[in-house]
Amino acid sequence: MKLTVIGCGYLGATHAAAMAELGHQVLGMDTDPDKVAALNAGRAPFFERGLDELLAKHTADGRLRFTTSYAEAAAFADLHFIGVGTPQKPGGTAYDLTHLFTAARRLAPRLTGPAVIVGKCTVPVGTAPQVIGLLREFAPAGDRVEVCWNPEFLRESHAVEDTLHPDRIVLGLTGENTRAEALVRQAYGRIIESGTPVIVTDLATAELVKSAANAFLATKISFINAMAELCELTGADVQQLALALGHDQRIGAKGMRPGLGFGGGCLPKDIQGFMARAGELGADQALAFLHEVDAINNRRRERTVGLAREQLGGVIKGKRITVWGAAFKPDTDDIRDSPALAVAQALHQAGATVTVFDPKALDNARKAHPRLDYADHPIEAADGAELLLHLTEWPEFTRIDPAGLATRVAVPRVIDGRGTLDPTRWRAAGWIHRALGRP
Ligand code: UGA
Repeated sequence: MKLTVIGCGYLGATHAAAMAELGHQVLGMDTDPDKVAALNAGRAPFFERGLDELLAKHTADGRLRFTTSYAEAAAFADLHFIGVGTPQKPGGTAYDLTHLFTAARRLAPRLTGPAVIVGKCTVPVGTAPQVIGLLREFAPAGDRVEVCWNPEFLRESHAVEDTLHPDRIVLGLTGENTRAEALVRQAYGRIIESGTPVIVTDLATAELVKSAANAFLATKISFINAMAELCELTGADVQQLALALGHDQRIGAKGMRPGLGFGGGCLPKDIQGFMARAGELGADQALAFLHEVDAINNRRRERTVGLAREQLGGVIKGKRITVWGAAFKPDTDDIRDSPALAVAQALHQAGATVTVFDPKALDNARKAHPRLDYADHPIEAADGAELLLHLTEWPEFTRIDPAGLATRVAVPRVIDGRGTLDPTRWRAAGWIHRALGRP
């Protein structure tokens, strides 16, 4: 099939590469010429495991190309996936849908024949009809342009795998769609043949599935982190609590790792945007619990700073602190709403000299937080430190020998914000070890 992907960020670039991997002829379109140049050279402008390999493979075999031109995209195919960003409104909590509406508005006048537009971005429920309205108004093809919604559930750091092997495909249709379902099923043919369930529904349900999924995932994380607060007061161990809870099939262990909480470009923004939309719909109460989910999440960051202060004898000012981790989670260079950097920044503001190390996110962190210090190696970062904080659980941190590291720091004192450093090993190597939610 020939298809386009409009918007080539994490979602769009991965979707375009994955569609080429499935055998289609793909044209990715993005308004950022630097991004398009990098993608055409077979490189993602961000770090995502396995993506560069797919981009290189299919830009070389001719199945995948990128452009900045809407006209070229409209002429290339009649199946268009839209994966533009839907960030938070500056200074607000609702979604900023400018990129989505601009993409629809600019593609529309070039749609002269039948076309199917597949919305993939995360949007507040009720957005798809507005996209339909724009296309009806501005597309010469009028109602021969169909719109359907197919939310994306990929996780950064597992984007390629999640796109090629999704847990499910959700497709929201209108009663007027005639070609959309067949074309989308054909595009995902190999994925569907491998047994992936397809849930065909209406537009509003499809939009809501994504908001509900992220709200649930955030709630699961904050639930276990609320339990961590109780563990801290009772001497219980949240890691063992999570392990025991996870064995209950109805609860499940996945997505319930206690620690510093959630960050990134999705969960924090999506629960805020979901609450804002519920408010507009007059259903604030239905999602009131998400305020608490958010509050628990923020309290983990405050608790970590508090624990650091406690460990430093009540004074942060003038202390040398090392932070391991800047990305919002391991295996990405994304620092959007990173819990690790929020804590590093708070400690810096309290007067500490904070040195940060991260295996992939240092460049992004340097640009966003120029006042923090940075080191290019985790051990070098810890030289002379009076406190080490482990805030993003990159696997390489667990492989560092705590005995050797103890000889480099000023005081062997560590706070594990992610619960992956073995307390027995670190204490045996002479460290004072504290962890969120653990005795
Ligand atoms: C999330 C969802 O998991 C995806 O399904 C969704 O498609 C995506 O948002 C999106 O809306 O685009 P992502 O933000 O990439 O994906 O990352 P997650 O793996 O869900 O992690 C989010 C945050 O929660 C990270 O800061 C992570 O460290 C934290 N987390 C995750 C925990 O603290 N505990 C856990 O058990 C899991």
